[in-house]
Amino acid sequence: MKKRIQIFPIVLLLYLISCSSRTTIDTGSIATDSLTIAKGQASFTKNCSSCHKFNQEASGPPLEGLTTSISVDWIKKFIEDPKTVIESGDERAQRLIVKYNELMPSFSQLSDEEINDIIAYLHTQKARGKKVQGELSILSRPGEKVHKLTSVKMKLTNDIQ
Ligand code: HEC
Repeated sequence: MKKRIQIFPIVLLLYLISCSSRTTIDTGSIATDSLTIAKGQASFTKNCSSCHKFNQEASGPPLEGLTTSISVDWIKKFIEDPKTVIESGDERAQRLIVKYNELMPSFSQLSDEEINDIIAYLHTQKARGKKVQGELSILSRPGEKVHKLTSVKMKLTNDIQ
């Protein structure tokens, strides 16, 4: 009995951690080679950086950690045509428009390849402006309530860096 009591919190913790990474987003399709990332960075600077930073608010939301919290498909659709995503009733998009009260322009003129390049660059900005490896880094996102478990996760994140 005593043994079970000791094991339970650990099992619970592991379970909770695996739940928080609920957003097991498939990032497998995102390119990670430096050429693509460099092209994406250039395109981001040209098209997006006037409204988006990574770890601070601007006229648009900070994009840090985005690729690990929402699917590539969603991000692509949004970049191509934010209005359509908002009008489709998508919950995340609706929340954004209410909060930022400004419609992001459509970037349908960008080719699929250019958008993929930008996403590859976004994917290098995983959390808190740091380039970190591993899923644990996304567990604490800006705006997420910092509670005990988050601190544990953050500690784990620091440990694996
Ligand atoms: C003129 C300002 C502006 C520019 C330029 C701009 N955005 Fe946005 N973006 C916004 C605003 C404002 C929002 C919030 C949604 C809304 O209100 O339309 C947003 C939202 C987003 C979102 C959704 C974020 C989330 O948390 O779900 C993504 C992704 C995004 N932008 C990517 C881009 C990319 C990539 C570019 C460049 C190709 C870009 N944006 C250019 C203003 C801009």
